[in-house]
Amino acid sequence: MKPNQLSKTAAFIAIKFYGLTRLPSFQSLFEDSVISFYDRVVQRLPFPLNYYHYWLKYSWVRKLYIWSEELLLPGDLLHIIARKYYIRQLVKELTDDGYEQIVVLGAGFDDLAFHYSQKGFSCFELDVPLMAKHKENFLTANYPDSRHPDIISSHLREKQQLLPFGPNSNIYADRKTIIIAEGFFDYLSVNHVASILSQIRQYFSNSPALVTTHFALDELPLHHRWSFKTGVKTVGEELKLNNNINEFRKLLSNNEFIINKQIDHKSMAADLQQKTGTELPILKGFYLLMSK
Ligand SMILES: C[S@@+](CC[C@H](N)C(=O)[O-])C[C@H]1O[C@@H](n2cnc3c(N)ncnc32)[C@H](O)[C@@H]1O
Repeated sequence: MKPNQLSKTAAFIAIKFYGLTRLPSFQSLFEDSVISFYDRVVQRLPFPLNYYHYWLKYSWVRKLYIWSEELLLPGDLLHIIARKYYIRQLVKELTDDGYEQIVVLGAGFDDLAFHYSQKGFSCFELDVPLMAKHKENFLTANYPDSRHPDIISSHLREKQQLLPFGPNSNIYADRKTIIIAEGFFDYLSVNHVASILSQIRQYFSNSPALVTTHFALDELPLHHRWSFKTGVKTVGEELKLNNNINEFRKLLSNNEFIINKQIDHKSMAADLQQKTGTELPILKGFYLLMSK
């Protein structure tokens, strides 16, 4: 990931979420404000990505898109709905428990920090400079009278490993904090993730909660693993972590993040299929983990 790059993986997460939530069954899982946030995000993506906003309104285009996506990487589409849906449940659980500050690493086009800013929480997003600028402009243009999250423009580099959390940031070290890493650690090496986790641990005086996704690529059949990695590479990004679920849990626990909730693709699929009537599967090897 380069500092001056618009993340296409982040853009396609927003596009897929927007496309699927044209369907009432998926739309009903989220508040109207969330649906309208992604509608605006996709409409304002740079050309030609913004064309998806127009074309995905047509049911025949959506059917074609779903068919081709399921052929290449089954479960990729529904996993987007799943991560947005279950991360909201986990964050709600934590805020009900007194957590009052939210830091979203590699926030992309996600709406959660903006959503919680409206509720009076202090929220921060971190992303590479071009993404941070795009998000800042987007929020200013579309939500001029709303509270915005504090957007930290920073490209985290493996060689220069310091997190921009120091005394110059407004992140309070003594507040009960939720760290969200949704589709973020996968793009960094094991050593880099370990360094970030250990710095987070040291920075906060109250142990922060962590909500993170994980993709255990070893659980995918070879050709789907290839599709996943190639798809990411084609848009100029790279999956670097490559940990199986036990290795990832160990990486977290070595840095004192002890997992107390783990949700796997099967239970998410069963729940969402029951709630929405969809027959789509969820990507094998996809996990959501929480530590607090
Ligand atoms: C797959 S996207 C996920 C976006 C968002 N979290 C979501 O799930 O909708 C990964 C995000 O991490 C950001 N990112 C990747 N590597 C980064 C780095 N080294 N430093 C800062 N941000 C990075 C990208 O710009 C992108 O927005």
